Amino acid sequence: MKKTVLVSGGAGFIGSHVTVELCNAGYDVVIADNMSNCDETNYNGVCAILGKKLPFVKMDFCDRGAVEKLFADYPIDAVIHFAAFKAVGESVAEPLMYYHNNLVSFINLLEVARQRKGGCNVLFSSSATVYGETDRLPVTEESPRQSATSPYGNTKQMCEDILRDSVRAYAGIKGIALRYFNPIGAHPSALIGELPRGVPNNLVPFITQTAIGKRECLSIFGNDYPTADGTCLRDYIDIVDLAKAHVCAVARMLDGRMKEEYEIFNVGTGRPVSVLELVNAFEKVNGLKLNYKIAPCRPGDVVAIWADPTRANKELGWKAERSVEETLAAAWAWEKHIAGK
Ligand code: WQD
Repeated sequence: MKKTVLVSGGAGFIGSHVTVELCNAGYDVVIADNMSNCDETNYNGVCAILGKKLPFVKMDFCDRGAVEKLFADYPIDAVIHFAAFKAVGESVAEPLMYYHNNLVSFINLLEVARQRKGGCNVLFSSSATVYGETDRLPVTEESPRQSATSPYGNTKQMCEDILRDSVRAYAGIKGIALRYFNPIGAHPSALIGELPRGVPNNLVPFITQTAIGKRECLSIFGNDYPTADGTCLRDYIDIVDLAKAHVCAVARMLDGRMKEEYEIFNVGTGRPVSVLELVNAFEKVNGLKLNYKIAPCRPGDVVAIWADPTRANKELGWKAERSVEETLAAAWAWEKHIAGK
């Protein structure tokens, strides 16, 4: 029988790509989203890619009754939980809003999921941000977590711990946390992608918006870091590759292949790329010149972080496949699509 996967936050950037890959792999998907940080663009794009309308429930996971109703209405075998606030700076200004939203929604979900007849599998979307600044690179899942530098990062750590402790205590649930490095790009159809509200904080949306003329100039935050070209190093992971990791993790849970009841996997390429390298690759693959300048360092940025993805490669049978160039071409095609060009 087909298994049903609930994707909370399924109308967002990562959730929409994951939904497509889950459907391609033969799962039934239910999307639930409160639409607090997105519009219907990605949901409509998902339906266009798949050629069918997917079940969509507009709801807030902080509303316990709504979560109970969702589980009563659909036979949910696994949940992938994306529904959360994600802006680092905003979380510093509004910590209580972040703690309330990101923790209450996840606790509600776990409380309901654990009582489901037959149990439930829970995949939590975590972040490489839990590693903080570290000089032992690349980072493995065993690398120590540093204390979080923002309430946002803290909610990721806390939700990981809540999942770990719940899995230990309650027979009804199993859990996986995926720690994403820097997800970028868009679906090759250019029908779904990243839609930041206001001025983007992240590098690639800022690059594409500058290229299309929405922003005047990209600021490269710092060029005297102790790296080869002086700019920060990150592990940029293609969004479709990232989405496929979720399918592998869900299959591992549903097929009973987990080695422990709670598992953590890094989802990255293992390849460090500097800000300047990324900008140059974007210019080259898309045949354009980007207006950029060197600006002061951004407070809170770590110099360098990239993944050791060995565990995900071996245990999930997953590997990042797309090149940075392919990914940046897809990001540009998406920017042009939303600009109507
Ligand atoms: C990448 C590099 C910047 C913008 C953040 C969150 C993390 C996460 C992903 C979230 C850095 C440089 C950026 C710009 C620049 N998860 N940069 N000019 O900071 O690695 O991670 O996003 O949901 O939790 O912290 O990603 O894309 O912001 O920055 O030079 O206009 O690009 O300094 O070196 P980051 P990013």
